[in-house]
Amino acid sequence: MRTLNTPELIICKNEKEIAELVAKEFTRTMKNKSKSVLGLATGSSPLSTYKELIKLYKTKKISFKNVKTFNLDEYLDLHPNYANQSYYIFMRDNLFSKIDINMDNVHFPPVNVTPLKPASIYDKQIKNAGGIDLQLLGLGVNGHIAFNEPGTSFSSLTHVTRIADETIKSNARFFNGTQALVPRKAVTMGIKTILASRKIVLIAMGKEKARALAEIFKYKLNKKFPCTSLLLHPNVVIYADQEAASYIKVSESKK
Ligand code: GLP
Repeated sequence: MRTLNTPELIICKNEKEIAELVAKEFTRTMKNKSKSVLGLATGSSPLSTYKELIKLYKTKKISFKNVKTFNLDEYLDLHPNYANQSYYIFMRDNLFSKIDINMDNVHFPPVNVTPLKPASIYDKQIKNAGGIDLQLLGLGVNGHIAFNEPGTSFSSLTHVTRIADETIKSNARFFNGTQALVPRKAVTMGIKTILASRKIVLIAMGKEKARALAEIFKYKLNKKFPCTSLLLHPNVVIYADQEAASYIKVSESKK
C-alpha cells in the first residue's frame, strides 16, 4: 500500500483572492531561488494569477530574468483557423510578452514527436534544468490534470494523448463553441512528470470542477480521476473557490 498525503486545501472567497495567493506562491519560490524552474498551465484558471504576476513584475517586486519555464501541454493538429488557440500563443499573449523572461528559457512539450524523438525527451529536459520547483495546475471537469485524461497511468511520462470527449465538449468554448474544431490529440507532461515537481499548486474554480475536486478528498487513488494522483505527492496546495469546494464532505477534508 502506498502512503497517501493530505493536500492543503485553501478555500478562497473569489478569483482575485486565489490569484493573489497563488502569485505569492510564485514570489516565494522565485525569492528563494532566482534561477527557479516553473511549471506553467493554460486555461482560464491561471489567467488572473498571470495578471497578478505581471503586476508584480511591473512594480519591480519580481523578475523572471533567470527563470526557466516548462508548460504542461500543447494541442496537436490545431485547425489552421484556430492556430491562435495554441498554448504557446496563450502563454506568449497572457504572460511571456509582458514580463522580462528570456524566451530561450521557455519550454513546451515537443509537437514533432517521432520514435527517434519521443515526447519523453521533455522529461530529460526538465531533469537537466534541475527539476520543477513549482508546478501550477488547473483541473479538468473530468478530473484531468494537464491532458492526462481518465485512465492515464500514474507512472506516465510526457506522451501524446487522445483528448477525452468530455474535455472536447468543455474546451469547445475556445473554438467558437464547435466541438468538431477542437483538436483530438495533444502532447502532455505525464502524471509521473508532474509528480516529480517539488511543489504543486492546483487552482479549481466554479461548480463544474466540484465533482473532480471532491474525488481527491475521498483519499483513494482512482485512475478514472487523474487528479487523485496528487495524493501521492507530499507538497500539494489546492486553492479553490467555494463553488469548486462545495462537494467536499467536511469529514473527508480531514480539516
Ligand atoms: C485544459 C488543459 C488543462 C487545464 C484544464 C482546465 O484542457 N489541458 O491544463 O487545466 O483544461 O481549464 P480551465 O482552467 O479553462 O477550466
